[in-house]
Amino acid sequence: MATLLREGIEALLARLGVEDPIPDIEGTDIQSNPIDIYLSYLTDTLVKLTECSPQVAHGSIQWPSDLGDLAVILPRLRLQTQNPKALAVELKQKFPGSHLMGHPVDDGIHLRFFFSAQILGRLLLPYIIDRGRSYGIPNIANHTDLELPKTEPKKILVEFSSPNLGKEFDGLHLRSTIIGAYIASLYESMGHEVTRMNFLGDWGQHIGLLAAGWSRFGSEDALTADPLRHLLEVYTQIDELSKSEQANSQELPSDGQLSGIAAELEANVTALDNADPGAMALWTRFRESSIKSYTDIYARMDIRFDEYSGESEVNHATISEVETTLGDKIVFDETKGGWIIDFSVHETRVLKNGHAKLRNLRGLTTYLLRDIAAALDRSRKHTFHKLFYVVSARQDSHFQQLFAVLELMGQSELADRLQHLSFSTARGLAPEEGISGLLLSDILDQCRTTVSNLQANKPDRFSHYQGQDVLTLCDKLGTTSLMTQELAIRRKDDLIFDIPNIGNVEEETGMSLQDCFAKISVRLQGVIIDQEGLEKSDDDLFEDERYAEILRVLIQFPVTVKSSFEKLDSSPILTHLFRLVASVDYLLDEEGESEASGSNHNIVKLCLYQAVRQVLENGMHLIGLTPIEIA
Ligand code: ARG
Repeated sequence: MATLLREGIEALLARLGVEDPIPDIEGTDIQSNPIDIYLSYLTDTLVKLTECSPQVAHGSIQWPSDLGDLAVILPRLRLQTQNPKALAVELKQKFPGSHLMGHPVDDGIHLRFFFSAQILGRLLLPYIIDRGRSYGIPNIANHTDLELPKTEPKKILVEFSSPNLGKEFDGLHLRSTIIGAYIASLYESMGHEVTRMNFLGDWGQHIGLLAAGWSRFGSEDALTADPLRHLLEVYTQIDELSKSEQANSQELPSDGQLSGIAAELEANVTALDNADPGAMALWTRFRESSIKSYTDIYARMDIRFDEYSGESEVNHATISEVETTLGDKIVFDETKGGWIIDFSVHETRVLKNGHAKLRNLRGLTTYLLRDIAAALDRSRKHTFHKLFYVVSARQDSHFQQLFAVLELMGQSELADRLQHLSFSTARGLAPEEGISGLLLSDILDQCRTTVSNLQANKPDRFSHYQGQDVLTLCDKLGTTSLMTQELAIRRKDDLIFDIPNIGNVEEETGMSLQDCFAKISVRLQGVIIDQEGLEKSDDDLFEDERYAEILRVLIQFPVTVKSSFEKLDSSPILTHLFRLVASVDYLLDEEGESEASGSNHNIVKLCLYQAVRQVLENGMHLIGLTPIEIA
């Protein structure tokens, strides 16, 4: 809980020589965003000097990426009287002196402001230390995206990962897992109520095939020992067998009847669709043992699910309800493969042509029909404000059809609360030699091995991770770096996972974040920050531009988080954290290990480290990474 509220901030400012209370400017939030303190004073001064409205003045101020801490773009003041360049010169002369920033510099149509680094340090460090885990986290009251009563936490459902039972865990499942965990962490950090849901692909043709494989290749012992591996082996074997059977039987039986594995598959799917007890018992074993294994593997990434649902769990009554509501909008069309809805006849907001298939030629429910029913089931069970489906762009049209059908059912209000968070392709993952298919545990093991090899060759590089079990440490570093490869790019970008390079010192990796966090943690061991001591101590440090730069990165963190939240994109936060690490890392290295204990530092420097550590911690948590706490 923050204790340094408006009065406290003003009292602190007064001790720093800024006597005037902070002007109250609409659209600023000084409680969560310290740069707004500067913006408020600057806006107020602009209003006084130019007589423009506070909104216009506020809108004319920017965070420049090139020069200065804030810049006023003069044409935005919309003052007819003068040309902007002349205005810049005139305003510069009129600007009253301020302790917060130096005198402005005119630069063409800009007026540039540079914060006093000393005052910034004295204001910002206590601010961040006071806010602690809440520094930079957007204020719930500002979440206009949900168009619901503000200030109250919302119920958010995030469906992600969703692998298919018995099959490989591919790069797209991995991307979904990492992005989904980020979305869930982001909303949870802001105080919303988040349910993490894994929608297993535990129904359909591949389960029918898996069951056919089980009767030939299944082993109870192997299933108990390593369920995911064994089911994948069984699936791979039966898949090959079924393909060679198809290749050998060139001619289709003249009566159109299926035979061999294909017939078994169909019989198994029908048995499951009819909830046949024998089929269900086998499937339940597959499902439960898989969930148990997955739970342990996700835990290596610090990911947990509140609910494992699945395509098989969809309510039969809801499926009937969907079909009854759609009534004669569903027609049988053999050329289109079964029971369909034609959007060129039934126009919707999202789709005006094409069609959606609800049952196949044999009358079995499709993935789409089950997803529609699942959306209804979920809306009743969870009464969520928003449901995110974190699924690859390959399924863009599936989700468009899902939302369009809901609209045709008169469920537009529900459809509006559903959002497909789509992402692009993934490459770069492959099983080790001799392993037939890829599981999530294989991917994480490959990462751990890469880090373990680094550790064996260069143990010194890992010396700041005190008191850690080496294998656990390598596992955590490996998963952090793997996840960071995803989180550092935009969802719409293609991703090539690069496991051999997860520990590359030349690059910005998850390991560099953990390394920096650990190095700072070592320096802060046993240190207790005393606020009064901080106010009295010497702040010459900030005359050094390298330290002042760190302050600038720290103050911009809340702004970055806000823009990351608006786009539901983690990459701005990572770019920010990498910039922070770069600005502090070489100072830490320069100080060297000899100084790696609190006693050698002045209190201002320790506070600065504490604030850096806090921002690293908050940023990592926001995107679903867990900083390693040293013992
Ligand atoms: N299991 C599916 C797959 O691997 C993803 C499920 C996505 N979620 C959904 N509600 N359709 O492709």
